[in-house]
Amino acid sequence: ATDISNDLEHVLIPADKLAARVEELAAQIDADHAGQDLLLVGVLNGAMMVMSDLSRAMKSLVTVDWMAISSYGAGTQSSGVVRILKDLSTDIHDRDVLIVEDIIDTGLTLSYLVQNLTSRGPRSLEIAAMFRKPEAVDAPVDVKYVGFDLPNEFVVGYGLDYNGLYRNLRDVATLATHVYR
Ligand code: PRP
Ligand code: MN
Ligand code: MG
Repeated sequence: ATDISNDLEHVLIPADKLAARVEELAAQIDADHAGQDLLLVGVLNGAMMVMSDLSRAMKSLVTVDWMAISSYGAGTQSSGVVRILKDLSTDIHDRDVLIVEDIIDTGLTLSYLVQNLTSRGPRSLEIAAMFRKPEAVDAPVDVKYVGFDLPNEFVVGYGLDYNGLYRNLRDVATLATHVYR
């Protein structure tokens, strides 16, 4: 295997800053949901890191479940047409649900997911996203917990991929141009 660092330009958010922010979000979520039986719904694959770190930073009892969805569209742009590849194993009717996402880019994935999960009659439905690209939001989504706002650049790491790679990078970094040119 090839060393990841050859493909990176510069680190935008180092691992220690990510970890510190996750601790803050976890404390906030714990406080806001005291006494609830919260279900964390992670969106595969990008949410793998934030789900594992956020859930471990929380001090409350929680349940974890996953969905996998794929968005159809021309090239790399998502179209808003979304298909469920793996559905929840949990019935969320009357449950307090927190969707855990790595990033909200156009917002199309989350708007679909909110619409889909709302139709199942949860008691409450909220969103936590580790990253948000404010300049890129086409479909406005009400995100309750946001880790970091990112510039509108192509970034990888901490679950964010390029062609399925770089998710396992501990930091969030920009990709060197030789990789995608
Ligand atoms: C990425 C990311 C979010 C979504 C955000 O997932 O993990 O789920 O895109 O983009 P949007 O706001 O424009 O919809 P992707 O579909 O690339 O799958 P992945 O999680 O497996 O990388
Ligand atoms: Mn994703
Ligand atoms: Mg992706």
